[in-house]
Amino acid sequence: MTVQLPHTMRLAFHGYGSPEDHQVDMARLRPTERKYVELFRNPERRQASAAARIAGHKVLDSLGCNHVSVLPDDHGAPEVLSIHDGTTVETVGISLTHRKGVAAAVVSADPESLAIGIDIEDPNPSLLKTLDDFFTESEQSEIRALKPVHAVQRATAIWAAREATLKAIGLGFAVPARCVDVHIIDETTGTAKVHNIDEFPSDIQVELRFGTIDGMTLCVAWITSHSLQQLRNRRPSPRRTFAWTGIQKTFSIIQEERT
Ligand SMILES: CC(C)(COP(=O)(O)OP(=O)(O)OC[C@H]1O[C@@H](n2cnc3c(N)ncnc32)[C@H](O)[C@@H]1OP(=O)(O)O)[C@@H](O)C(=O)NCCC(=O)NCCS
Repeated sequence: MTVQLPHTMRLAFHGYGSPEDHQVDMARLRPTERKYVELFRNPERRQASAAARIAGHKVLDSLGCNHVSVLPDDHGAPEVLSIHDGTTVETVGISLTHRKGVAAAVVSADPESLAIGIDIEDPNPSLLKTLDDFFTESEQSEIRALKPVHAVQRATAIWAAREATLKAIGLGFAVPARCVDVHIIDETTGTAKVHNIDEFPSDIQVELRFGTIDGMTLCVAWITSHSLQQLRNRRPSPRRTFAWTGIQKTFSIIQEERT
């Protein structure tokens, strides 16, 4: 599986699914990461979340970024924190996804494009029933012009691009799906524009790359018009309390990793 990314961005995968492998993955995580993963009651969700962090560490290690943990911020967006003092590592941006036994992480070390997102989607015929509600008018006309099998593929790719874009902004589906307008250029590339979000008066421009893994569609999105800090600072308070905030990434927890 290849996704054509700039050399400043890297992607890694890690499989999950067996309880034995999960034990191995858990042992490789930082204590704080384990605490986060253990919050999930669903065993598959726990396996997926651990595997995504292992994929994240693979990429971060390859960039020489070693003494770090990958933990969610108050919106659930992953960030890279120094294990020495709990501060955010400002030189990289990270995103995680997991679906059907495959976890993936993408990291950007491009100072101009640290806001990055990734998503993996299964081809999903039922997306065609949601076109009016969740797809923009231009996306709908592109999809409706295709034969059914291609229409499903196109709708799935657009959906993956939408989720990857919303992760790059750090909001996820806290904003309406139709604020993201996806334009697919060919099988491997595309662009998106995000508009009509109160906090962002000007449009957000997005670059997209596509690939496939185990019959699923993968999309990486990165923001070219705004910095990661601009995007993170303008987010409204989370709509509901994210479970992790009950534990908090306090310095005392992070210090455990040094012992
Ligand atoms: C982000 C979102 C699109 C993820 O989609 P998904 O298809 O369910 O799951 P994926 O496997 O592709 O991605 C999951 C990863 O997205 C990341 N993620 C979650 N929220 C995110 C956000 N706001 N911004 C960026 N990335 C986010 C996390 O790393 C998560 O994995 P982890 O919990 O193991 O760390 C979706 O969960 C969402 O919209 N969340 C925000 C809206 C919301 O309900 N917020 C309340 C928080 S409790």
